[in-house]
Order: sequence, then structure tokens, then C-alpha cells
Amino acid sequence: MITLEEIKNNQKIKEFVRQTEKYLDSLGFTDHGQRHITIVSDRARKLARNLNLSKKDEELAAIAGYCHDMGNFLGRDNHHFWSALLFSQIYIDQIPTQELSEIMQAIASHDKDNLNIINNITACLILADKSDVHRTRVKERDIKKIKDDIHDRVNYSVIKNELKISKKNKQVTLKLEIDTKITKPMDYFEIFLERMIYCRKAADFMGYNFALIINNFKLS
Ligand SMILES: [Fe+2]
Ligand SMILES: [Fe+2]
Repeated sequence: MITLEEIKNNQKIKEFVRQTEKYLDSLGFTDHGQRHITIVSDRARKLARNLNLSKKDEELAAIAGYCHDMGNFLGRDNHHFWSALLFSQIYIDQIPTQELSEIMQAIASHDKDNLNIINNITACLILADKSDVHRTRVKERDIKKIKDDIHDRVNYSVIKNELKISKKNKQVTLKLEIDTKITKPMDYFEIFLERMIYCRKAADFMGYNFALIINNFKLS
């Protein structure tokens, strides 16, 4: 069974992640590199564990989380497909086809328009990825420039981000604390509504409700 540790040490994966950081930095994007993929991978594993998935599925969710954005250096559009295909090019002869397919499907689904979830690994990855909004994702250092860009502004405004899973209430909750001096919650919805719909679809698939709490105001 392949492990996340082996994936992290693969020289090709390291290079794809590095190229992706370089490419998206040149476009002035928020972080999609080491910080983001580590958080997404950890969160995907935590979700899998909380859902009582098998140890194998926990590992697959963590791997999908780590590799989901590595195709961005080939172009932002369709990066979900590039990432899935790059993954299979490296591991097609090393990972059993069923596991490889599930990882590929999770990666390809994380940004797909016609989202259709058929496995838990995909659901874990989507929740982990779409919930990653935080000040530390912003690479720009000039506060004026941050305020001028809605993605930077919204991410920069989020000073606390917690993803909680309650098995008892069958609820996944994303709890955010936003500094309203930086942005208004409406800005958040302007760019994140789609992401929250992805989260709701993923939670639905797992049989959970998805709730969003912004500054103690709950939407579910
Ligand atoms: Fe992505
Ligand atoms: Fe991502």
C-alpha cells in the first residue's frame, strides 16, 4: 500500500508542486503550494478518520489532498484534470487500478462543473479543499493591493478557520472568524458561494448536513 510519505518524497511530485507555486505566483494567486496541499491533505485524512473509513481510504484521501492542485503549472483551467492525469502517469504501474481510479476521480472532481460524487475519498477532498480560506493563504504583502483584489481580501480577512465534524448531529461545520474591517461577509459570498455548494454536495454524499458559521452567524 502506497503511503503519503512516499508520495511526498517523489521527485516528480516535488517538482510539479514547485512549478505550480512558481506559475501561480506569477499570476498573483493565493497559495496553492506546500501550505495549501499540506492543510488539504491533513484535513482530508481527518475527515476520512471521522467518517470511520478504512485505514487504506484515509491514506488515499490524504494522497488525493496532497496531489490535487499539482497540475496548475500546465494552466489554471482544467488543472483538476491535469493533476489527475499527472498522478496516473507516475503511479499507473505502482498502485492497484481501483485505488488509482479513486484518487484520480477525487482529484478530477475537486473543481468540476458537473460534479457527481460516487466515493468518500472525493467527498473528503472537496470538503478539505473548499474550506481552506485563511489569511495565511495570501502571498501579497502590500495591504493596499490585498484590499484591491477580492480573493486576497476575502482570504486575508479570515483570521480563524475551523472545520468540525459532529457524528452525533451528522453535521460538518465550517466556522470562520472574519475581520470585517478588511472585508464584508457579502464579499465572501460573492466568491465562495460556489465553494460552499461543493461542500454541501460533499457533505450530502456522506449523509451529513453542511453548516457555515461566519462570526457566530450560522447558515445551514
Ligand atoms: Fe484546485
Ligand atoms: Fe486546492
